[in-house]
Amino acid sequence: MIDLTTRLTNELTLSSPVMNASGVAGFSTEVQGYFDQRDLGAFVTKSLAHFATEGNPAPRVSGAGISMINSVGLTGPGVRGWLEFHAPKLRMNNVPTIVSIWGRTVQDYAKVLAELNGVGDFVKAVEINVSCPNIEDSMNMFGHSPQAVAEILVATQTCKLPRFVKLSPNTHLLQEVVATCVEGGASGVVLINTVLGMALDKRFLLPTLGARSGGLSGPAIRQMSIRAIYDSYASFPHFPVIGVGGISTANDAIEALAAGARAIQVGTASFVDPRAALKILRELPLAMARLGFERISDLTGAAHRGGVAATKSALEFRDPT
Ligand SMILES: Cc1cc2nc3c(=O)[nH]c(=O)nc-3n(C[C@H](O)[C@H](O)[C@H](O)COP(=O)(O)O)c2cc1C
Repeated sequence: MIDLTTRLTNELTLSSPVMNASGVAGFSTEVQGYFDQRDLGAFVTKSLAHFATEGNPAPRVSGAGISMINSVGLTGPGVRGWLEFHAPKLRMNNVPTIVSIWGRTVQDYAKVLAELNGVGDFVKAVEINVSCPNIEDSMNMFGHSPQAVAEILVATQTCKLPRFVKLSPNTHLLQEVVATCVEGGASGVVLINTVLGMALDKRFLLPTLGARSGGLSGPAIRQMSIRAIYDSYASFPHFPVIGVGGISTANDAIEALAAGARAIQVGTASFVDPRAALKILRELPLAMARLGFERISDLTGAAHRGGVAATKSALEFRDPT
């Protein structure tokens, strides 16, 4: 019997390690027609600010080889619109929810959390998306500055929910930022957001996206995500990591878990098949059994402990029959 539960923090255990990534499944029940959202470990909202936003000019999404590139921008109804139109549906369906938040200033993050006070216990955690420009720091991304991330953690420290910080891979300071999250009292990190990129339409030799450049996602970024997860676990093995980036199959999910993730999120693969996350969840037990793993907790970080060979002998040691 394979145990898919995964403990993210002392307060938060998910029924399974598979979630959707922020931004690919809307704000509440948009994907409910494809599968029952309660089957996933949690539903993650698209990032919400304390104000409503329209996002970037079209086209916002384009193919890019085996991956895709988007400049959707952080479009959304704002936290008040979400509380009015979306939260009631999630509350009524009792969907374990992680609310992703963003801002343009450090205080914006505190403001959106203040609005979420008393939202209800269907909200299990917040994901703090720091891959956005800081208007108080020459539009540099918050996530590229350990100091800015530290300030956000201070500004949000009264939050009673677990706080996971979703980091940008577009910086050589990524591991310093992870260290800042550990020291600043975050509950964990989400690795990784999209990789800065650009594509030209080869017929017109013009950018494919309305905003010209955007974020690369999908299979092309999986190995960047694996490295980020692996390095975080190597430095801070007890600090929870949620892995995201290019996961399209159960074996991809296992790779991220073995690198050090306690749970994973599925993004771009949902554009190929809206049921991708559920499919990965369904295929995970068999894929784990084939490698000799019975629990997610045994799989998390297995690559740091000798991989399959070490675990198989550990299992044999526990049960020689
Ligand atoms: C269309 C689109 C919209 C996204 N919107 C958000 C967002 O609102 N907040 C966020 O933190 N990440 C957002 N992301 C990034 C994803 O959550 C994820 O980190 C990234 O796409 C890598 O995972 P993937 O390769 O599985 O897509 C978005 C990605 C895509 C493709």
